[in-house]
Amino acid sequence: MSLIQIENVSKVYQTGEVSVTALNSLSVTIEQSAFVSFIGPSGSGKSTLLNLIGSLDKPTEGKVIVNGVEIATLNRTQSAAFRGSTIGFVFQNFNMIPVLTVYENVEYPLLMLRHIAINERRDRIFTLLDKVGMLDQKNKYPNQISGGQKQRVAVARALVTNPKIVLADEPTANLDHKTAFKVISIMHEMQKEFGTTFIFSTHDPKIVDEAEIIYTLEDGAIVNQEIKTKN
Ligand SMILES: Nc1ncnc2c1ncn2[C@@H]1O[C@H](COP(=O)(O)OP(=O)(O)OP(=O)(O)O)[C@@H](O)[C@H]1O
Ligand SMILES: [Mg+2]
Repeated sequence: MSLIQIENVSKVYQTGEVSVTALNSLSVTIEQSAFVSFIGPSGSGKSTLLNLIGSLDKPTEGKVIVNGVEIATLNRTQSAAFRGSTIGFVFQNFNMIPVLTVYENVEYPLLMLRHIAINERRDRIFTLLDKVGMLDQKNKYPNQISGGQKQRVAVARALVTNPKIVLADEPTANLDHKTAFKVISIMHEMQKEFGTTFIFSTHDPKIVDEAEIIYTLEDGAIVNQEIKTKN
């Protein structure tokens, strides 16, 4: 069974009288340890799709099965537990917690996972902050660092629980090319070391190039698929 199975999924947003079809009977499967990019014009459904895979939302029709779990069957508590144990998110707007330092923001998702000892926790946070080049800024608050730095902290935070799946919505949008490639190379390292599956949306052609499977969305459907052979 594939890690992620999306079967004839439609998502319709209803706002008053107006309904918008964000995903239109879309099907796709994603295997463990894949490095997948969804591209396509603004409004084509990329964020909607990532939100469904991350169980932040439910499909109007069709099935989203992630790691053997049909996400539509989860209640709120179960969804939260599923996300905490299986998914790491990098959001378009970073979602930093303003009253917590850089270090504490990265630590935050670990606090829910009780089985991770304090030493191990500290090691992981230090290693990841070092990898994203933010260790020397660990005691700063989000309002004291730049957008690109917040994005790097967001990546460290998404990876700190060692999740099976990392969902990243425009993970490099606010980064210069050097930092963007650093972020992508951290992701490739995690993919190789832990078999982490990376799924991201992007407009950045250089970053698209780093993906192994590229799906193009248009009007909520996949209109093109490119699979690169690994060398
Ligand atoms: N919460 C919402 N309520 C109503 N309509 C929505 C909502 N979220 C998205 N949409 C609509 O659904 C469609 C798909 O939006 P989505 O955010 O998935 O696109 P996207 O590909 O991520 O775009 P972008 O590249 O601009 O981030 C758009 O027409 C959008 O206006
Ligand atoms: Mg989007």
